[in-house]
Amino acid sequence: MSKVVLITGASSGIGEATARTLAANGHQVVLGARRTERLEKIAAGIRERGGVAEYRMLDVADRDDVNAFVAFAREKFKRVDVIFNNAGVMPVSPMNALKVDEWDRIIDVNVKGVLNGIAAVLPLMESQGSGHIINTASTGAHAVGGQFGVYCASKYAVRAITEGLRQEMDTIRVTLISPGVTESELGHDISVEGTATAVKQLRSIALSPDAIARAVLYAISQPADVDVNEMIIRTVRSAGHAF
Ligand SMILES: NC(=O)c1ccc[n+]([C@@H]2O[C@H](COP(=O)([O-])OP(=O)(O)OC[C@H]3O[C@@H](n4cnc5c(N)ncnc54)[C@H](OP(=O)(O)O)[C@@H]3O)[C@@H](O)[C@H]2O)c1
Repeated sequence: MSKVVLITGASSGIGEATARTLAANGHQVVLGARRTERLEKIAAGIRERGGVAEYRMLDVADRDDVNAFVAFAREKFKRVDVIFNNAGVMPVSPMNALKVDEWDRIIDVNVKGVLNGIAAVLPLMESQGSGHIINTASTGAHAVGGQFGVYCASKYAVRAITEGLRQEMDTIRVTLISPGVTESELGHDISVEGTATAVKQLRSIALSPDAIARAVLYAISQPADVDVNEMIIRTVRSAGHAF
């Protein structure tokens, strides 16, 4: 059955791959991110292949904007079946570098962004009597590494929020996706040179974002009474480290 799927952080990486994969499998996708020129191209590519895609500028850290994004989707498609709260940032750094503005940004996007996404769809999904909230955590929601403390804290928070929500819901499905290292633009904004080099090294062995897109498709495709609670997906070459 074709579903209306809202995807935050759809302008690159995992969100972009998921938009393409879901649309190729007959779902109607609504893409959100700040870089609208990217969204426009991705949506055009989907439509050229016969898929259905809409897009809208979105800053997940802004609660009103997330509400407007959901209202936009409702206006276009009259319902919302799934939200994939996927937008995230990873400007990691040593704590003593005191990159306090970057700490704020991680919390605002990775934690408050997910909360804003949940708040924007929950009343609607409850009134529909169905819905599916999928949140992107990380293997960094299961283990902590030096210089990743604030990022991992944000992802542990997403994991806790998702599990708390799941326990409250009996008609709305709730899924946590925890990718390991995946090819994307994540970490492009790391401002400490040594950290950027180390992260580049860590990210040299990475999964294709299509692998995460297929996991999202799997969770969405299950019968309505089946809730895939959590998936952790790593490259087989991840031996020797937690991520
Ligand atoms: N790649 C990995 O190794 C990995 C591993 C574990 C978890 N993850 C998680 O996977 C998710 C997707 O990341 P990715 O790897 O695909 O990285 P990415 O290519 O950098 O994509 C991040 C997406 O988030 C969007 N975004 C950032 N700030 C935003 C904001 N304020 N409002 C709306 N959208 C915003 C970006 O779009 P704009 O800049 O256009 O707004 C972009 O589309 C993140 O939650 C990340 O933490 C990634």
